[in-house]
Formats: sequence, structure tokens, C-alpha cells
Amino acid sequence: MSQITGKIIGLGSYFPPKTLTNDDLSKMVETNDEWITERTGIKSRHIADGIEDKSSTMAVKAAKEAVEDAGIDPKDIDLIVAASTSPDLVFPSIAVTVQEALGCTENVGCFDVNSACPGWLAAFNTVQGFIESGNSKLALVIGTETLSNYVDWTDRGTCILFGDGAGAAVLKAEEGKKNEIIMRSSGKRGVCLHCENRKQPKRYDEDDFEQSTYFYMAGRDVFRFAITEVPKLIKDLAAKYNFSLDDIDYFILHQANARIIESTAKKLNIGIEKFPMTLEQTGNTSSASIPALLNEMKKDGRLKKGMKLVFASFGGGLTWDANYIEY
Ligand code: UT7
Repeated sequence: MSQITGKIIGLGSYFPPKTLTNDDLSKMVETNDEWITERTGIKSRHIADGIEDKSSTMAVKAAKEAVEDAGIDPKDIDLIVAASTSPDLVFPSIAVTVQEALGCTENVGCFDVNSACPGWLAAFNTVQGFIESGNSKLALVIGTETLSNYVDWTDRGTCILFGDGAGAAVLKAEEGKKNEIIMRSSGKRGVCLHCENRKQPKRYDEDDFEQSTYFYMAGRDVFRFAITEVPKLIKDLAAKYNFSLDDIDYFILHQANARIIESTAKKLNIGIEKFPMTLEQTGNTSSASIPALLNEMKKDGRLKKGMKLVFASFGGGLTWDANYIEY
């Protein structure tokens, strides 16, 4: 169905310069490059220094690139939504920091969303809702994370997976195919992936203060959840919106683990070449992974106007979402 929708007209991403390879990790915990590569596909990840590079400053850098790529004047932006589970400030929002840094006007709606790894999809769907209802004409959607702040660097089952970074897209109201979505969640199943909020530094009144601010992940449970629900979700999306998976140019999946992506491709009976990956050099960057992957594909020429794309993500909540868009 053709109507006014949000077309992606600009993309940007940013990764901090410091990297941590599998060999570096093998000096910190009992692991090795062979195990990590075989079980995850990850070789290296970027780590923010917390001074120059934080969730908010990385969001600004990714957003600037997206605005430049779109060739727009930031003064024309009327909505900024940022997704992050690891903001450096409780408030104001990351979106407001971006508004200020880009020199936008005050005629801009700014807020953040938190939906763990599918956060960027939640933000994208929110912005599409504003655009498709006529309440926004030009918007920025950002995903930015410094999960290195919350990882237990003594837990080899978790610390090998995650990296820091940001990705951003500019969405413009144009005539086109509507954004088609399915969003699912299960609070009941959320216990296998959770993180308590950081407490104030002086609140050492609880014995487990430091422990409880690390995030907890039962890797095998999350793995099983992902390889079961993600292919089912994509099949349900195709059935709901009456399209064939064979007509999709690319499946842009959350970059968590190469084995999850390979299993999804196999269950859908679609060639793995339609499932691009960046995780080898970035690890799992949570809500930044999908926009950063899109940016890489735009830069290397794989992404072309009019392509049919499926986005799918999963993570803490538990939450799992998928979209069908025409790029
Ligand atoms: O954005 C969503 C966030 N989360 C995810 O996507 C995570 C999904 N889960 C995963 O990606 C995988 O479960 C992991 C990569 C975390 C783990 O891989 P696995 O194949 O599920 O390994 P496992 O937890 O079943 O562990 C197998 C063995 C165990 O040893 P035993 O009990 O068989 O002797 C672990 O202790 O591997 C051991 N192990 C490791 N060995 C070397 C676990 N982590 C490591 C490690 N290096 N880093």
C-alpha cells in the first residue's frame, strides 16, 4: 500500500577507536580466539573510553554523518528519537544532546526509548508512526550503546560478545510503501537477560552493590529463544503482510552471533548471502547494530534504492521485533 511513509535518506555510524581482540580477551579471562570465533563469529569489538566516547557523544557523531549523508539542513529536523540501554545520563535524553550538538531549532520533539537490542527498531517504528500520521516530516533515529560499562569482565560467557558503537538514520516523509511491523515481548521470559540500574556511587549500603550492576545473561537460554522466535517472527511477518521471503533483497538481523543468523537463514531456507554481517569486527552493539550495518552496506554499494528489506532484532525483555520496508 502506497502512502506517506518515512524513507531512509541518510545513514551514519561511529565506533570508538580502541579495540579489544579475542587475543586481548584471552589475557583477561580463560578463553581463546578459536572458541570465540567458532561459537560467535566475533573477532574484535570497539570499547568506548567513557570520556571522549560515551553513548551521547557517539550518538552525535553517528547523527552528524547521517545528516551529511542525507544532505539536509539540521534546522529542518522536527523529531529525534534515540534508543539506548546504556545512556551516560539518566536525563536529559540523548536525543536532546544530539539536537543541541547539531544546531537544530527548538521546533523538535526529542526523547529516548529503551528496548535493549531491538531499541533501534522500536525507535524506528515510533518515528514511522509520527511520519505516517502526518506529525513529522524529517526525523533522526539513533541507536547508541556503551554496554562495556555493564559487562562483567570476569564472566567469559558474556564479556566476549559485546562492543560499543552508534548508528543513525534520517527518515523523510515521502510517498512509498508503508512500514510493516510485528512487535512481540515476553516479560515472563525476561529473567535470562537483565541488568539492574547503576546506583549512586556512594550507595555502598548493599553488600552486592558492584555485582548487581553487571548485566546477567543466561547465554544458552537466549540463544535458544533467538533461533526459535526470530525465524518464526519473519515467517509471520511475511504471512501478515502477504509477501514472499524469496522477494526480499536483504535480511538485516541484529548482529548478536553468527550462529543465530546462520540458523535463521537455514530455517527460512534462504541463502546466507542475503544475511549481511558486521559482527566479526564489532561484536554485539545492541541497538546500534542494525543502523550501523545499513550504513556499511550503503558505503560498500550493496544497499540500493527500492530494495526490499526485512529487519529483525531480539533481546532483553524479552522482546523481538521485525519490519518489512522498501529502502
Ligand atoms: O543481543 C542479545 C544478547 N545475547 C545473545 O545473543 C547471546 C546468545 N547466546 C550465545 O551467543 C551463546 O550462548 C554464547 C556465545 C554466549 C555461548 O555459546 P554456547 O555455544 O551456547 O556455549 P555454552 O554456554 O553452552 O558453553 C559451552 C562450553 C561450556 O563448558 P562446558 O560446560 O561444556 O565444560 C562453557 O563453560 O563452553 C564454555 N565456555 C567458554 N569456553 C571458552 C563458555 N564461554 C567460554 C569462552 N571461552 N568465552
